Amino acid sequence: MASEPTQRPDYFFKRGVQSSVRLNYNHWLMKELTGYLIHPAIPANKPDLWVADLGSGTNIWALEVAAHLPETARIDGFDISGDQYAPATSRPSNLHLHIQDCFKPFSSEFVGAFDVVYARFWLCLVNNPDASDLLKNMISLLNPGGYLQWLEPLPLSVRGVHPSAEGSNTAIDRLVSHLHKPTENKTYDWIGKLPELFCEQGLEVIAADRILFPKHLRHAWHHSLLVAFEDRAQGDTPSDNGEDQKIWISQLMEAFANGSYIDSPFICVVGRKKSC
Ligand SMILES: C[S@@+](CC[C@H](N)C(=O)[O-])C[C@H]1O[C@@H](n2cnc3c(N)ncnc32)[C@H](O)[C@@H]1O
Repeated sequence: MASEPTQRPDYFFKRGVQSSVRLNYNHWLMKELTGYLIHPAIPANKPDLWVADLGSGTNIWALEVAAHLPETARIDGFDISGDQYAPATSRPSNLHLHIQDCFKPFSSEFVGAFDVVYARFWLCLVNNPDASDLLKNMISLLNPGGYLQWLEPLPLSVRGVHPSAEGSNTAIDRLVSHLHKPTENKTYDWIGKLPELFCEQGLEVIAADRILFPKHLRHAWHHSLLVAFEDRAQGDTPSDNGEDQKIWISQLMEAFANGSYIDSPFICVVGRKKSC
């Protein structure tokens, strides 16, 4: 029996300068982590390649992809809000931006139009029952033979590591629990199951890469996590005035400075829409 759809979480990050800097920082961190913008298994050398960036944010991925592809390629960014979009004067003419809820059907002009569809960091926006619906909608954009590339952290695999084997730290324990399940209604199981979900929706899985955070980028990822907590538009509960969170963030900074760290793997899944 199909499970009941849950209330989808709202986007709970702010959209100011710090939020945009965080998205850009994460982009370059992910590029350093993976070593690519478009996965090397995806043939991206067609001069008239059509690429879609879903949840385009500050468009940083789309802008960099546009800078690397010939001007004859076309890149479309979709986001529910254009507040963080790059101004027209900083965009190439082959980058087209749209306001679109990616959980809702796309306009017919985009259906079956794209060679590459790209998604990243949807974890805060998706619960198990929504993942297949979102995936179907993403796949609707692909032409036959087109590729979907989806990169996510694997929060259920996160663990805290301490300088001594028997060590522990309350603030780190709280962070790990929060990353495993931030709220009662939140489920992250869908992320580890992305390869199966791709198959269920008829995609041929070309790659399902589990990526470990290398030691030299650990500290940078800690900064991203801390800024993400500072960047939330509201706390976990209506009565949360942010004080508890500020104390927690300073405890985490101390724990990181004392050598504890978060082991946080990622997954990049690439699927190909079958041609027939
Ligand atoms: C999905 S993340 C990705 C950010 C960026 N592309 C990256 O890779 O780091 C955040 C973006 O998703 C957008 N977003 C949230 N809900 C959305 C929805 N239902 N449809 C489309 N975009 C959405 C937010 O407005 C925000 O710009």
